[in-house]
Amino acid sequence: MYISENFSNDEEGNLTISGVNTLDIAKKFKTPLYVMDVNLIRKNCRKFKGALEKYCETNSFVCYASKAFSCKKIYEIMKEEKMCVDVVSLGELFTAISAGFPKEKIYFHGNNKTEEELEFAVKNEIGKIVVDNLSELKKLNEIAEKNNVVMKILLRIKPGVDAHVHEYVTTGKIDSKFGFTIEENEALGAVKLAKELKNVKLEGLHCHIGSQILEIKPFLLAAEVMMKFIKKIKDECEIEINELNLGGGFGVKYLKTDSFLDVDECLKNVISLIKQKSNEFNLKMPSIAIEPGRAIVAQAGITLYTIGSIKQILKEKTYISVDGGMTDNPRYILYKSLYEATIANKAAEKKVKKYSIAGKCCESGDLIGENVLLQEAEEKDILAVFATGAYNYSMFSNYNRNLCPAVVFVEDGKCSIAVKRQTLEDLIRNDV
Ligand code: LLP
Repeated sequence: MYISENFSNDEEGNLTISGVNTLDIAKKFKTPLYVMDVNLIRKNCRKFKGALEKYCETNSFVCYASKAFSCKKIYEIMKEEKMCVDVVSLGELFTAISAGFPKEKIYFHGNNKTEEELEFAVKNEIGKIVVDNLSELKKLNEIAEKNNVVMKILLRIKPGVDAHVHEYVTTGKIDSKFGFTIEENEALGAVKLAKELKNVKLEGLHCHIGSQILEIKPFLLAAEVMMKFIKKIKDECEIEINELNLGGGFGVKYLKTDSFLDVDECLKNVISLIKQKSNEFNLKMPSIAIEPGRAIVAQAGITLYTIGSIKQILKEKTYISVDGGMTDNPRYILYKSLYEATIANKAAEKKVKKYSIAGKCCESGDLIGENVLLQEAEEKDILAVFATGAYNYSMFSNYNRNLCPAVVFVEDGKCSIAVKRQTLEDLIRNDV
C-alpha cells in the first residue's frame, strides 16, 4: 500500500512508521519534522554489504555517502553497521570524527578541497583522500610531507559514461567538474605524478557516474572503462591498482509506480564483469568499493507537516500550504522531483482529490508537489511526505529565516531526537 513496507495504518486509520503512530510523533516533537526509520537504514546497509560480500572474493567496502543525510547519530549507526563513510567537506568530516566514527574508514571527496580541509584530513590521518585534480595532488603531498605522514589516495576518474539521469546529478561525462579524464592522458599523468610523490600512496581509482541511476548498463560501462584503464596503468607505469571504487547512484523508488535499481542484480553483474576483465587482462582482482547515499536513507525518511491555509483557485486547482516547504525539501524546485504523500490522520480514507502542496516561503515556486492525490484536506491535518530521507535535511536552507526542523529517529518502536529543532536564538547566534 505504501512505497516501502515499514509504513502501515493502525487500527484508527492513522499512519505508522515502523509501528509507531506518526500523529503521536508529530504531537510530541512538533512539525515540520523529519522522521527516520533506523531499522530500515540498517537493513539497507546490510543489503549492500551482503551483496558485495556475496559476489566479491576480494576485500570490499560499502561507504555510506553521507552527503545524503549527515548528523552525528547517522555516523554512529554507520560505525555499528561496520560501514565506511564518504565525506565531502570539512563539516561532514568534523561531524563524523566528533561522532567517534573510525577515522581510517573515512573517504574524503570534493572537487575543490581547501588547504584547511586537506590539513585537517591529514592531521587526523583519515583513511583515504579521493584526489580530484593535479593541484590538489601536489598540495596534498606538501601538506602530508609537512605533517610527516603518507596519505593513501584514490584518483577520481571521469569514465565518459552517460548515466541517463537529471543533468544536475550526472557526473561521469567528460564535461564534468569532477575528476581526471582518461582522454589525452590526463589521468595517466596524475598516476605518474602520484608514483613520484613521496607522501601520497596511490591505492586505487574512483568513479561516480551520477545519482538516481535506474539501469545497470551505465555501471557496467563504467566498470569496463575503469578496468581498461587499470590495465593501461599496469602496462605503462608498472603499478597494480588495488582498489576500484565505483561510487554511488543506485536509484530508488519515490512513487509506488517508479522503477528502481535492483542492487543485488547490479552488483552481481558488475563484479562478474570486473572478474572477467581481471582474468582477460591478467590483473589481480581489485578490492571493490561502492558509495550508496540515497539508497541507504531515502525511503527511511518521511517529513511531517501541519496543513495550514487551503486555497481553491478557480475550480481546477487547490493549494494546501504546509508549515515547511522548499527550505526543508528543495528537491521539487531544483529537479521537479515527485513525492507521494498522505494525510497521516486520515491514512485509511480514500484519496479523492489532487492538491498542489505549497510551502510557506515568499516564492511561488516553493512547492513540494503538484497534482498530489490526497484525502480531503482540512486545516490542522498532519501531512506525511514519503521518501524524504535523502537530500532533504542535508540540503536544508534558512531562506526567509525559517528554522531547521528537528530529526527524530525511530528504532524498535522507540523515538529519539537525532537533531534538535533550530531555535530563534540559533538563528541569530552569528549575527553581530
Ligand atoms: N559518491 C560520490 C562521489 C557522489 O558525488 C555522490 C553523490 C554519491 C557517492 C552518492 O550518490 P547517491 O547514491 O546518493 O545517488 N542532491 C541531489 C543528489 C546529488 C548527489 C551528489 N553526489 C538530489 O537530491 O537528488
